[in-house]
Amino acid sequence: MTTTPADSFTPEFTSAAVAEFRSVTQRFGDFTAVEGIDLTIGAGKLTTLLGPSGCGKTSSLRMLAGYARPSEGQIFIDGKDATRVPPEKRGLGMVFQSYALFPHMTVAENVGYGLKLRNVGRTERRAQVAQALEMVGLRHLADRKPRSLSGGQQQRVALARAITIRPTLLLLDEPLSNLDARLRVQMRSEIRRIQSETGLSVVLVTHDQDEALEMSDDIVVMNSGRIMQQGSPAEVFNAPANRFVAEFLGYENFLTSAEGRSLTVRPEHLMVASANTVTTAPEAPARSLILQGRVTHVAYRGVDTILTLAATDPSNEQVTMLAEIRGKEPGHHTPGDDVVLIAPAHRLVSLQSG
Ligand SMILES: Nc1ncnc2c1ncn2[C@@H]1O[C@H](COP(=O)(O)OP(=O)(O)O)[C@@H](O)[C@H]1O
Ligand SMILES: [Mg+2]
Repeated sequence: MTTTPADSFTPEFTSAAVAEFRSVTQRFGDFTAVEGIDLTIGAGKLTTLLGPSGCGKTSSLRMLAGYARPSEGQIFIDGKDATRVPPEKRGLGMVFQSYALFPHMTVAENVGYGLKLRNVGRTERRAQVAQALEMVGLRHLADRKPRSLSGGQQQRVALARAITIRPTLLLLDEPLSNLDARLRVQMRSEIRRIQSETGLSVVLVTHDQDEALEMSDDIVVMNSGRIMQQGSPAEVFNAPANRFVAEFLGYENFLTSAEGRSLTVRPEHLMVASANTVTTAPEAPARSLILQGRVTHVAYRGVDTILTLAATDPSNEQVTMLAEIRGKEPGHHTPGDDVVLIAPAHRLVSLQSG
């Protein structure tokens, strides 16, 4: 059988889950950073821990890596209880926000370092280093020292170094947050490509929802040390489980139905019509919500216009709504306009309380 370069990176798994947290808690003194999380990390997938600063992402990753021991619970890696296994025996690769390259070594030496520690022979090492550098597009810089590289290039070297050891699991903690905005966006697709070419299992930590949506197979949304929701990007985006997840993913409008259900709708899905033209809006199918409102602020942004509106929801509460509308000239809406807001039935999302 012939192996392609990408194949030879792919570790074999005995189960579909490469790692698992079982009721894992991490306490620092009186403070609980991670609280009883259950989490399954799929083999060959890119799983993202997404949440605001301080929600416990890094603490969770450090326990997975073995740098911190859970206060309670267990961590399984490739089907085995790894809770007490030291970091160097877990077979994981890590890349952090800071690249942590060895300054006195060349790029190739940096990338080959893990293989050298594992007593991989010189010829084999050279081949694997070349292959990893090829994958991150830096083969031509093999003999350079890290300080002569840009931030993005150094981050690629760190990535190449982490993948040469063919880790069971690659852990990336905010790897893009030190890069400038353009490079950050470019590296998203680069990391995703490397992940799919190698078939590596990756856990990515980020606080950036766009990064998570673009890069992940599976997103785990965290808040205050707990998991709020786990699902595909489309699942968490289209069906956020609760208000926290919805707000984190850019939902702005929170309403209560006449029956007391909590509902939300995205600003770009809210339709706005002039009050005197709509009583039976043709666009409004059955079960859509139709609210009376008044424009309080207009922000024209070129591609779209953001309207802030005061409205009364079906439970008779006064609510502030945001509508993002496209294709309207500046001045189409002005503060004080009476309008009808339509939240189409298929765009309404029901939220669990809490
Ligand atoms: N070694 C520590 N000692 C005390 N508190 C800690 C320690 N590490 C993290 N924390 C606290 O635990 C919480 C979660 O931290 P962390 O996991 O780093 O969050 P994130 O990576 O999501 O920003 C934070 O409130 C942080 O201050
Ligand atoms: Mg962190």
